[in-house]
Amino acid sequence: MKIMVVGGGGREHAIIRSLLKNPKVETIYAVPGNGGMKDDAVLVPIAATETDKIVAFAVENKIDYAVVAPDDPLVLGTVDALAAVGIPSFGPNKAAAIIEGSKVFSKNLMKKYNIPTAGYEVFDDPKKALAYLETAEIPIVVKADGLALGKGVIIATTREEAMDAVHSIMEDKVFGKSGNQIVVEEFLTGPEVSVLAFTDGKTMVPMVSSMDHKRAHDNDEGLNTGGMGTIAPNPYYTKEIADLCMETIFLPTMAAMNAEGRTFKGCLYFGLMLTPKGPKVIEYNCRFGDPETQVVLPLLESDLLTIMQAVTEERLDEVEVKFSNGAACCVVMASEGYPGKYEKGYPITMSDEARPHVFVAGASLKDGTVVTNGGRVLGVTAVEDTLAGAIKTAYARVNEVHFDNAFYRHDIGKRAMAALTKE
Ligand code: AMP
Ligand code: GLY
Repeated sequence: MKIMVVGGGGREHAIIRSLLKNPKVETIYAVPGNGGMKDDAVLVPIAATETDKIVAFAVENKIDYAVVAPDDPLVLGTVDALAAVGIPSFGPNKAAAIIEGSKVFSKNLMKKYNIPTAGYEVFDDPKKALAYLETAEIPIVVKADGLALGKGVIIATTREEAMDAVHSIMEDKVFGKSGNQIVVEEFLTGPEVSVLAFTDGKTMVPMVSSMDHKRAHDNDEGLNTGGMGTIAPNPYYTKEIADLCMETIFLPTMAAMNAEGRTFKGCLYFGLMLTPKGPKVIEYNCRFGDPETQVVLPLLESDLLTIMQAVTEERLDEVEVKFSNGAACCVVMASEGYPGKYEKGYPITMSDEARPHVFVAGASLKDGTVVTNGGRVLGVTAVEDTLAGAIKTAYARVNEVHFDNAFYRHDIGKRAMAALTKE
């Protein structure tokens, strides 16, 4: 089979490696992929958002199955465009991808169907938003409605900060049209859990839970990033909480999307906060998380391609989705300066032992050499029987991966370990 994977980060590298385990897979085309994937996939220099070119490439190369991984192409309707030319793919259609594409949509969905989430107000007029903030309880959270490269959420600890967020999102339009509307939301507290779930609109199969580490530096200091590391499973997510989430969040969300005529087929990502009042939805994503995928898929024992095709064909109930009882850790190695300014173009080297466990995100090819080309350069992973073992092995492998100006957090999994030992 010829498979096309749209996207070019560490998440896509992890997806490609899992798909390659299926002997039916002959070739994987990564669109655009990145230089660090050159041994696993054929790199196709088309941007993930160039829908027409992607469709033309898929037709010309007789692609049998496609996986559309990032939010932008999903929200643009790449899955619909491929379906229109008879190419089946994994991912929600445009109508369903709105669950991530519009926070106003997702908040209103949760309200309408009684799915637990933070209390909120929607504004399309900055004056009204500012008036509301005069008396609102602080801290408060301001969110741009649309996609904003992961930067559209402002946790305001002062009234001034909240008002500044309204000015920059709604008036200065720092996120463009994504800021035409905003959600102003109650500030919640509690451990965060990421749960990715396969769903075909009829069946919902949650994957092993995970924990992201969003801040750039140790002890959760520094700026918010796309994610500096992950562990799975998340020790805060007990069987009891999982059952509660299934009943109050996962199944109701699937039913709600069906009732709205927006059946969701693909990977639905639940960003949850375990608040003192129970689990609540912080955000939905219409796709696999990054870097959650880098710890979740290595724990998947069943065949990924088989599951994905079953989702597309709405027979998820017929296939086995089995995860190992072990644990996984991913340590992201980034370019010094990220998420601010950083340099690129440094050669990346690694040992042969580490290579199969490294998922490359920000790299390109320069005269045949793989060089850094992004803020988050790669994720070094490990799977072991225990979380302590996975963390230890992942950090041992970090020592076998080199590029100039690299930095990484030294405490990935520390909070999870503390939670485990408290039990
Ligand atoms: P998002 O961009 O939606 O992933 O949000 C980024 C981060 O902001 C989340 O992972 C949470 O840590 C935090 N966050 C979002 N909404 C809230 C909220 N209502 N209360 C507290 N923290 C939040
Ligand atoms: N790790 C968070 C996300 O993928 O949005």
